[in-house]
Amino acid sequence: MKIIMLGAPGAGKGTQAKMIAKEYGIPHVSTGDIFRANIKEGTELGMEAKGYMDKGLLVPDELTVKILLDRVAKDDCKNGYVLDGFPRTIPQAEVLEDALNKLNDKIDFAIDVNVPDENIIKRMSGRRACLKCGATYHIEHVPPKKEGICDVCGEPLVLRDDDKPETVKNRLDVYHKQTQPLIDFYSERNILKTVDGTVDMMDVFNAIKAILG
Ligand code: AP5
Ligand code: MG
Repeated sequence: MKIIMLGAPGAGKGTQAKMIAKEYGIPHVSTGDIFRANIKEGTELGMEAKGYMDKGLLVPDELTVKILLDRVAKDDCKNGYVLDGFPRTIPQAEVLEDALNKLNDKIDFAIDVNVPDENIIKRMSGRRACLKCGATYHIEHVPPKKEGICDVCGEPLVLRDDDKPETVKNRLDVYHKQTQPLIDFYSERNILKTVDGTVDMMDVFNAIKAILG
C-alpha cells in the first residue's frame, strides 16, 4: 500500500504516519526527517536545506525529488510506504507520478489531515522533537515520561528551529500557496480522502484505518 499524507505544517501528518507505518508494517518516509538528520550530521545536503527550512521556505524541488526517489527505491519500500511531507508542490507530485507510472505502479491513497490555521500555531509551540530518532511529543497532549528527554533513545528534546511562531506563519503561507493545490490534484485522480485532524489523535487514526481497511 502506498500512501501520501497531506496537510498543513503541524496538522499531525508525522504523528499519523508513524501509527500507519506500525499498523501496516510499511516504512514511514518523511523528507523533513531526512533533512533534519542531515543537518544534525552536518552534511552538505543538510547545510543547504537548513537555509530554506529555518525561513519556513521549501527546499528546492531538484534536491528534494532526488532524495525521495532514492529512498523509495530501497528494498524496504517494495511493499509500500507512507510518505509524510512529500509531495509538497505540483512538480514534485508529477515527478512521483511519472516515476511510479514507469514501474506500472501508483499511489493508493492521499490522506488530507485537515486542521484550520488557528489551531496550528498553538500546537507547534508545544511540540518537542528528538533529532536523533525522529520521535515527537507535545508538552500537553503527548508529554515524554521524563521532561525534556526522549522516551525512545534518551536524547534531549528540542523545540525545532522552524517551530517559532513567526516561522510557523511563513510555513502556513507557503503551505496555502504551494501545497494546498495538491488537494485538487489528488481529488482529480479519485484517491483523495479527508479526515478531521482537530480531534484526539487516536480518533484521527481510527478514521484513517476505516479508510485504509
Ligand atoms: P516537515 O518536517 O515535513 O514539517 P511540516 O510539514 O511543516 O510538518 P510538521 O512536521 O511540522 O507537522 P506534522 O503535520 O508532521 O505534525 P506532527 O505530527 O508533528 O518539513 C519541514 C521543512 O522541511 C519544510 O518547511 C521545508 O522547508 C522542508 N521540506 C520537507 N519536505 C519538503 C518537500 N517535499 N519539499 C520541499 N521542502 C521540504 O504534530 C504536530 C504537533 O501536534 C505535535 O506536537 C503532536 O504531538 C501534536 N498533535 C498531533 N496530532 C494531534 C491531535 N490530533 N491533537 C492534538 N495534538 C496533536
Ligand atoms: Mg512532521
